[in-house]
Amino acid sequence: MLPGTILFALSLLVRRGLCATYGVHDTFQGSSFFSGFSFQTIADPTNGRVNYVSQATAQSEGLATVSGSHFILRADSSKTLSASGPGRDSFRIQSNNAYGTHVSVFNVQHMPQGCATWPAIWEVAPNWPNGGEVDILEGVNDQSPNQSTLHTSSGCTMPASRSETGTPLQLDCNVLVNSNAGCGVHINDANNYGPDFNNNGGGWYAMERTSSFVKVWFWARNDGSVPSDVMNGANSVNTDNWGTPDAYFPNTSCDIASHFQPSNIIINLTFCGDWAGSVYPSSGCPNDCITWVNNYPSSFSNAYFDFIWVKVYQ
Ligand SMILES: *[C@@H]1O[C@H](CO)[C@@H](O)[C@H](O)[C@H]1NC(C)=O
Ligand SMILES: *[C@@H]1O[C@H](CO)[C@@H](O)[C@H](O)[C@H]1NC(C)=O
Ligand SMILES: *[C@@H]1O[C@H](CO)[C@@H](O)[C@H](O)[C@H]1NC(C)=O
Repeated sequence: MLPGTILFALSLLVRRGLCATYGVHDTFQGSSFFSGFSFQTIADPTNGRVNYVSQATAQSEGLATVSGSHFILRADSSKTLSASGPGRDSFRIQSNNAYGTHVSVFNVQHMPQGCATWPAIWEVAPNWPNGGEVDILEGVNDQSPNQSTLHTSSGCTMPASRSETGTPLQLDCNVLVNSNAGCGVHINDANNYGPDFNNNGGGWYAMERTSSFVKVWFWARNDGSVPSDVMNGANSVNTDNWGTPDAYFPNTSCDIASHFQPSNIIINLTFCGDWAGSVYPSSGCPNDCITWVNNYPSSFSNAYFDFIWVKVYQ
């Protein structure tokens, strides 16, 4: 029989190990995106110049394709639009499974680029904002702010000083504050967004959500410090080995467990609208945003995601 102190030390080790080690639950790669995600043909709540198409339309128009083990989602880049008709064909896919505490890893080769684009990889629970929203990758017009953001109901704020490599923006996550700006953290890694991300072969975004924090990491494709379990898409991952996150949202003054419910992953691409449209004139982009979307289809030929895989660990 082991002495009690050793047993106690062992139990701490085991508990610690369990806390940061996760086993793979879902793998999306190639055509398994079609069974794991659903295409949502809803109107864009952020007023984008977009027409979210069904899976059948996306496949017949070549907007959702499988290439080897890659999965590619793109906007239409051939049609000139009537100003009075629907917006540019694009995609909004949502995972069929919802996840509570988990780790999600996105191995992305290419993300949508171009003026007027507003792509996002994010997670959200039903009954928004009470179940919380985590924006993992989001930006507009190839530019700023390359941020990860939480959006919550009231009573969730972040400390100004925390252990992260990114730069904190607004500290209150409440959607009612400052027109739903949320509590964002600007990711400082080079090549984390837009054309620079693509020219560098993309990289990995990862998010860990527990009952006491949310963390987001980004590693560029050629980053020397990408953890081997992330790089290899291992069957289990240990976030203890991943280093300081780019964005850290602790429970210091936000009860993460009650502000975040099981969430679906959403991958979408809209155009103009509340954010990309409003900052378009100061983005160094030509013309005005709506005209650009309507009349310059070929400028959207690089408005696509190319996923090597997406994995969710629990
Ligand atoms: C697309 O994603 C962004 C990112 O969070 C979100 O604000 C916007 O509402 C989304 N559009 C749709 C239709 O989901
Ligand atoms: C966002 O990332 C792009 C690409 O790396 C970079 O050019 C741009 O300056 C960044 N924006 C901000 C606000 O850091
Ligand atoms: C934050 O989470 C830690 C770890 O689970 C817990 O011990 C602590 O009580 C929590 N703090 C608050 C303010 O909820």
